Amino acid sequence: MVGVELRGQAGLLTLDDSLAELALLADTAGLEVVGQITQRLDTPNVQTFIGPGKVEEVKALAEETRAEVILFDEELSPRHLRELEQIFGANVRLLDRTALILDIFAQHASTSEGALQVELAQYEYRLPRLTRAWTHLARQAGGGGGRTGSTGGVGLRGPGETQLEVDRRVVRRRIGHLKDQIEKVRNQRQQHRARRKRSNIPVVALVGYTNAGKSTLLNQLSSSDVYVADQLFATLDPTTRRVELPGGYLALFTDTVGFIQKLPTALVAAFRATLEEIAEADLLLHVVDVTHPNAQAQAKAVHQTLEEIEAGHIPVLTALNKIDRLSDPEKARQALVNYPNSVAISALTSAGLPDLLRKTAEQLYEAFTPLRVFLPYHEGGLIALFHEQGQVEQLENTQGGVIIQGRIPNRLLARYHSFVK
Ligand code: GTP
Repeated sequence: MVGVELRGQAGLLTLDDSLAELALLADTAGLEVVGQITQRLDTPNVQTFIGPGKVEEVKALAEETRAEVILFDEELSPRHLRELEQIFGANVRLLDRTALILDIFAQHASTSEGALQVELAQYEYRLPRLTRAWTHLARQAGGGGGRTGSTGGVGLRGPGETQLEVDRRVVRRRIGHLKDQIEKVRNQRQQHRARRKRSNIPVVALVGYTNAGKSTLLNQLSSSDVYVADQLFATLDPTTRRVELPGGYLALFTDTVGFIQKLPTALVAAFRATLEEIAEADLLLHVVDVTHPNAQAQAKAVHQTLEEIEAGHIPVLTALNKIDRLSDPEKARQALVNYPNSVAISALTSAGLPDLLRKTAEQLYEAFTPLRVFLPYHEGGLIALFHEQGQVEQLENTQGGVIIQGRIPNRLLARYHSFVK
């Protein structure tokens, strides 16, 4: 493993913590870490990311430990990859954090949609990085993300085309095909969402850093058996369950993909459909592994990703999970102070779950938020809903729509978000 700290660009995690996380990712992918080298840099080297002396050091260590893979903690540019591949030679595979995360996602995608999304992300990542070394890509195409079939009829070179150009053409075509298919799935998903909305049961999306315990919690809440595993990214596809809340209320809880710092951009883009699910939830239940030494940095990474996917406006309830592991109960009390609007729970033993459900019901059904919105007349449904479920304090008819000032239950906030004045 090669870790780099760029001065002045402190990430959420320290160099050591980021490498520890990389080691866990490597383990999840079935790799065993045999050594690591770090460097502090002002700026990355244009050609090789790390300095030339370090490159030699890495090469020597890889040879000495007979490493099969050299893993960079940062995303390498196409040029860095090319230059480093040349220096390290054909006996060792060069991977960066992004490629590793993509691999793990590919291994875990359990539905066809997940598989499509990961495959798209892998190709988008690879396209600018194709080199001569990829000449057999045509035969491999479709292999990375898994099971969606072969590209068919490739490998036929056009006049004057190099193998590399053929490869690029194949990949571009495959990307186009994947995007079409994902779009279709996305439309279906939107229809499901629309149906869910009509059912008027509010949606609670579980979000959190990978391994925080989202699936375990959903299992406990609904006594279902969503796949739970002590591995990173066990869940790639959202699963929705109906849960009864105190007071006879209902909510739909949906599990979502785990976040991680430096989540590859290609992946965030590919998972747009899944992430849209989060952006349209009525409440976010942020599950935090409170026993993790970097719990706060992880929580911050989650908030950043939420902003990125435009879900920053949705109310958040935080579940501080795994309190059964805390030897000192005082620690849970301290944590509750550090996180606003939080409940301490153990998804494993069910401790704190009644409290969590009560808070969820409160958030969704009893808490009201003041709001001033401009609703165009063609949004008659939203105008009626405000009257029915909210408390209208002031109403002004203007050209094209109505300005309403009042309060609405939190579960409806997200629906009015784009009309806030
Ligand atoms: P991703 O799929 O990576 O996003 O993970 P996740 O957030 O869905 O986590 P998951 O539910 O798979 O749990 C991860 C690990 O933490 C599993 O080994 C769980 O058994 C364990 N775990 C979850 N909740 C608790 C808890 O309350 N206490 C303890 N001790 N372990 C827990």
